[in-house]
Amino acid sequence: MQKKAIVTGGLGFIGSNLIKLLLKNNFFVINIDKISYASNIYNLQNIKKKIKYKFYKSDICNKKMLNMILKKHKPNVLFNLAAETHVDRSINNPLNFVRSNIIGVYNILECIKEYIKIQKNFKMIHVSTDEVYGDIKGLKKSKEGDKYQPSSPYSASKASADHLINSYVRTYNLPIIISNCCNNFGPNQFPEKFIPKTIFNIIINKNIPIYGKGKNQREWIYVEDHCRALISLFKKGKIGESYNIGTGFIANNLKLVKKIIKIYKSNFDKKKHKIKIEFVKDRPGHDFRYALNSNKIKEKLGWNQLYSFNKALIKTIKWYLENPKFYNSKQRRKFDKRLGLIND
Ligand SMILES: NC(=O)c1ccc[n+]([C@@H]2O[C@H](COP(=O)([O-])OP(=O)(O)OC[C@H]3O[C@@H](n4cnc5c(N)ncnc54)[C@H](O)[C@@H]3O)[C@@H](O)[C@H]2O)c1
Repeated sequence: MQKKAIVTGGLGFIGSNLIKLLLKNNFFVINIDKISYASNIYNLQNIKKKIKYKFYKSDICNKKMLNMILKKHKPNVLFNLAAETHVDRSINNPLNFVRSNIIGVYNILECIKEYIKIQKNFKMIHVSTDEVYGDIKGLKKSKEGDKYQPSSPYSASKASADHLINSYVRTYNLPIIISNCCNNFGPNQFPEKFIPKTIFNIIINKNIPIYGKGKNQREWIYVEDHCRALISLFKKGKIGESYNIGTGFIANNLKLVKKIIKIYKSNFDKKKHKIKIEFVKDRPGHDFRYALNSNKIKEKLGWNQLYSFNKALIKTIKWYLENPKFYNSKQRRKFDKRLGLIND
C-alpha cells in the first residue's frame, strides 16, 4: 500500500530534497511549512502540481491545523524538519528558535499523542543535529548517548527538543526516532550558510568571508545521502533510539573554501577570475570541532553515503550555476538584499 508522509519544513533546504526523494520512492507527501525567509517556492516548483503531493502553509505551532491535517491524511510517518536553523540568527534573536524548535516540537508531540490512538501504524522521525554534542576535543568523535553540551541558542534549542522527545517516548510511548546529522550541502540551500554562500560569492565576484582564522572543523554530507538515511530510519530504525548520520569527511573552513575555489576554477571558470578570501571577526561561542561516530546507522541499518565530497560539490556548484532563478526571483532578491548578498 502507498505510504503517506508528512514533511514539516518542506520548502527549506533538506525538506525539499527529502520530498523529491519520497516522491521518487512512491510516497504520498504532505508538506507543512510556514514559509519563511529560508523557504523557497522555487525549491519545489516542478512538483507542486503532482497528484501525490499536497502543501499546507502553516506553522507547526498551530495545533488546530496540525490535528486537522493528521486526521484528514492519516500519515504513516512525520518527518520533522521545520526549524529555525542559522546559528548567527540564533545569537541575534533566540526567541524565534525557542518558538519553532522547542514549542513547535512540543506541539507536534501533543498532537501525535492523540493521533496514535487512532493510527497504530505510525512513526515520527525528528531531524536533529551534531551541534547538540558541542565542541569535540582532539580526534574524538561523538557517539549516540554522549553528553549534550550545546553552545549556541540554536544548538540549545535543538538539544531541548531532543530531551523533550525522549521524555515523551519514555512517558507516553510515542513512536519516535531522532537523527543527529552533520553539516549538509547541496541544491536548494539558502545562501547564508557556509558552502552556498561561498559558491554564491564566487559567482557574483564578491570576497568570501571566513570567521576567525578559518580553523574551525566541520563534518560534511551531501543532502541526498542524508535524505536516504532518513528514509532508512523510517523503514528500519528502532523506536526510541537516536542515530548519528555522518560521512567521516571533516575539514576546516579555510581548507574547505580553498577546495571549493580549486574545484570551481578547474571545472567551471574558463576565465580564471581572481577570487579573494576575507577573514572576518569570529562568531561568539563558535565551536571548534564537530565530528560524529556514525557506526551505528552503518552497521545496524546498512546505510552508507553514496557521494564523495568532490563529486557532490561539483553537482552542487553546477546546480547553483544552472539555477540563477533560485536567487533572482523577486522574493529571493528582497531577502538577499536585506542580507547584503546583493547590492542592487
Ligand atoms: N542544514 C544542515 O546542515 C543541517 C544539519 C543537521 C540538521 N539539520 C536540521 O535539519 C532541519 C532542516 O534544516 P534546513 O537546513 O533544511 O533548514 P532551512 O532553514 O533551509 O529550512 C527550514 C524550513 O522550516 C520552515 N519552518 C521554520 N519554522 C517553522 C515553523 N514554526 N512552522 C513551519 N515551518 C517552519 C522554514 O520556513 C523553512 O522552509 C532542521 O531541523 C535543522 O536543525 C540541518
